[in-house]
Amino acid sequence: MTKPTRKNACVFGLGWGDEGKGKVVDLLCPTFDIVVRFNGGANAGHTVWVGDEKFALHLLPIGVLHETITSVIGPGVVVDPVQLISEIDGLAARGIAVGSRLKISDRAHLVLPYHKLEDQLGEKSAAGDKKIGTTARGIGPCYADKMKRSTAVRFADLIHDDDLESRVRSIVADRQTMLRALFDDDGGLDADAVIADVMMAKTRLGGNICDTTTFLHDSMDDQKTVLFEGANGTLLDVDHGTYPFVTSSSTGPHGIGNGAGVPAARVSTVVGTMKAYATRVGSGPFVSELTGDMGDKIRQQGNEFGTTTGRPRRCGWFDAVSGRHAVRLTGTTDIALMHLDTLGGFDQVGICVAYRLDGKDLASPPAHASQLEAAEPVIEFMPGWPSDLRSIRSFEDLPQAARGYVERLEVLLGAGVSIIGVGPERSQVLLRGDLRDITPSPETTIA
Ligand code: GDP
Ligand code: IMO
Ligand code: MG
Repeated sequence: MTKPTRKNACVFGLGWGDEGKGKVVDLLCPTFDIVVRFNGGANAGHTVWVGDEKFALHLLPIGVLHETITSVIGPGVVVDPVQLISEIDGLAARGIAVGSRLKISDRAHLVLPYHKLEDQLGEKSAAGDKKIGTTARGIGPCYADKMKRSTAVRFADLIHDDDLESRVRSIVADRQTMLRALFDDDGGLDADAVIADVMMAKTRLGGNICDTTTFLHDSMDDQKTVLFEGANGTLLDVDHGTYPFVTSSSTGPHGIGNGAGVPAARVSTVVGTMKAYATRVGSGPFVSELTGDMGDKIRQQGNEFGTTTGRPRRCGWFDAVSGRHAVRLTGTTDIALMHLDTLGGFDQVGICVAYRLDGKDLASPPAHASQLEAAEPVIEFMPGWPSDLRSIRSFEDLPQAARGYVERLEVLLGAGVSIIGVGPERSQVLLRGDLRDITPSPETTIA
């Protein structure tokens, strides 16, 4: 395999998650040496189909499916050790040994049972319109502990903190008091069970813990190439997303600096992934949402049910307003436009080209959720295409209306589409432009 002409790359989501990042990372893997998760945790669910076989990973980088790749969980990831061990064991049962191919940052934080309880009880008790609709994986509470510092547990503590057991007992006691006071329920939180999880993490994952930041810099000095695998999506970004209906981390290439310890300047190929329409799971404003039959048809054709929670995804027309905003703030060099096949069979397809608010057309998203809720989508319709695209393998062979749709999106987004998804399977992809130089043949067999 020839090495990439451009060095390091990032694949991340430009939408509200589930854009098909897993499939794009898998496609690019064979030309990279290392794959790094740098944000989020088990709220992510990244899917790869190899023939009829499905792989859905939540914490393990997609790189583990490729035996020549070293996979890294960086300092910015919040790691539920029980979930991670179950993923490792699940792959082992399918003949894929992760072993020492996985490195976990000694600076990464542990998600423990009280984080998940706080997440679940908090969502349960919130008033309807205040529910974020989280994945209940303890993400927000763990990042809150990280910022609070005194109540955080990091992987380095498993090795170096001789006092860890008594510290965890005291954290659990405080958390029980807090949960009972806030929710009148501590969810059966039990210090011995938490300590058992911590000890299991130490035993099972201790050999994988290291200084991944130094490892990455040494590897890059040694001409190794790195692919950063973003989780969640730019519209869920804690600073730039549809706040407060967001996740708790920096989800795009700007998160690589703090989440992996690598300056963004070292990442030259920035692949923003999006669908040919929009989806969202959980609560929060969604200007171009289709709530009637059209939305149901997209959900059914695209099999839009969450990889992590199984929840039906809300569906809507492509949102070029938030899309262009996301492209600009992330410095996207290449767009991966997935699920073009899902839009087959519509007489016409819509694109949201502006948000109409108080009689004005906005070209970028306003800050407040109430403004987004009040905004009306301005929809531009284009001719649809009747055919099934799943067997097409080159852009030129697409129906003219589908090509016209992609070209219109490029103009609206201000970036070129280099990868087009025409089905869930590894080979169901079209390549265009420069990215073709660093992208292996989709037929490459690995795992
Ligand atoms: P991620 O979180 O961004 O990795 O995306 P998910 O894996 O959660 O959700 C994307 C879903 O779309 C998965 O079920 C994929 O198998 C599927 N998928 C990815 N690309 C395509 C595509 O081009 N067409 C179709 N029909 N399905 C796709
Ligand atoms: P991937 O990596 C889709 C959403 C949740 C909720 C909000 C906050 O598979 O694209 P959290 O549990 O993070 O506190 O939930 O963010 N969310 C995702 N939606 N895909 C994801 O990840 C998501 N990660 C978080 O549904 O609305
Ligand atoms: Mg997903």
